[in-house]
Amino acid sequence: MTVAPEGTASLPEVVESKDGLRARLEAARVAGIAQGRPFSVGLVPTMGFLHEGHLSLARRARVENDLVVMSIFVNPTQFGPAEDLDRYPRDLDRDLSLAAGEGVDLVFHPSAEEMYAPGHCTWVDVEGLSEVLCGRARPGHFRGVATVVTKLFALCRPDRAYFGQKDAQQALIVRRMAADLDLGVEVVVCPIVRDADGVAMSSRNAYLTPQQRARAPILNRALRAAQHALESGERDAGAVKDAALKVLAEDPPDRVDYVEVVSADDLREPQVVRGEVVVAAAVFFGATRLIDNVLVKVP
Ligand code: PAF
Repeated sequence: MTVAPEGTASLPEVVESKDGLRARLEAARVAGIAQGRPFSVGLVPTMGFLHEGHLSLARRARVENDLVVMSIFVNPTQFGPAEDLDRYPRDLDRDLSLAAGEGVDLVFHPSAEEMYAPGHCTWVDVEGLSEVLCGRARPGHFRGVATVVTKLFALCRPDRAYFGQKDAQQALIVRRMAADLDLGVEVVVCPIVRDADGVAMSSRNAYLTPQQRARAPILNRALRAAQHALESGERDAGAVKDAALKVLAEDPPDRVDYVEVVSADDLREPQVVRGEVVVAAAVFFGATRLIDNVLVKVP
C-alpha cells in the first residue's frame, strides 16, 4: 500500500499483475464474508487520464459496493493501426490521487504484455451492434473493447461495472455481451458529464488546440437541436438528423463522421422515430475525433 502525503486520502493500492489482482480480491472477499455480510465488488474500467466523467463512475461505485477497483489500461487492441495509441494521454500519478479522492480501493494497472500473453488469439465479437456508428469508421475497435472488458470481468468478477453514457454504443455492447455470455455482472451506465459550455468530458479533449476547443461546443448544440426537433413532435428520422446538420453547418467541424438517430435498444435506424432513441454524432477537429449523444424518449 502506497502512503499519501499527510492531509490527503491515502492512495489506492496499485496491482500490476493478474495473479496479484486475483489474490488481492480473493483475500478481500474472504475477509468480507468472514464478517458475516454480503461483499460486493464494483469495477470502473478506464484508460486513465481521469476526468470528472470517470470520477462520477467511481463515486457511484463507492456508494454501491464494498470494494471499488479501477482499471487503468490503455488497451492496444481497441486502437486501429493509424489511431492514437502511442500518443494517448497518460498520467498515472495524477490518476492515483484523483482515484484516492473518490475512495477507490485498488487500481489495476497492467502492462500490455501482462494482459495479452504471447499467442493470444481469442476475441469477443458482439455482432451487429459493433459494426454501426463508430464501428463503421473504427473496424475492430469494439472487438478490442469487448475482449478486454471480458478479461477484466473474468479477473475481477465484479458484482457491478460502471460505464459512461458518453460512449453509448460501448455501453450497449458491454451490456449485451454481459447478458449473452451470462457473466453475472450488472452493467451500470452513468450520465454524461459536461463542461460548462456543453462539451462532453473526454480524455481526448486534451488533444484540442485552444481554437479547436472553442469550436467544440457546436457538437452538443447540434445534438440539442435534434433533441428539440423530437420534443417538438418531429418523427421523421431524416428531418431530426437535418436539424443537427443545420447547426453543424453554422461553424462546421473539420469533418463530420456521422450524425445518426438510432433506437436505444439495438442501434437500428428507424425511419419513423418512436420509443427511446439516441441521437449520436462523431466529428473531427483536426485529427481529434469527438463523439457525443443525447438520449430522447419519444412518447
Ligand atoms: O471507455 C474506455 O475507456 C475503454 O473503452 C474501456 C471500457 C476502459 C476498455 O478499454
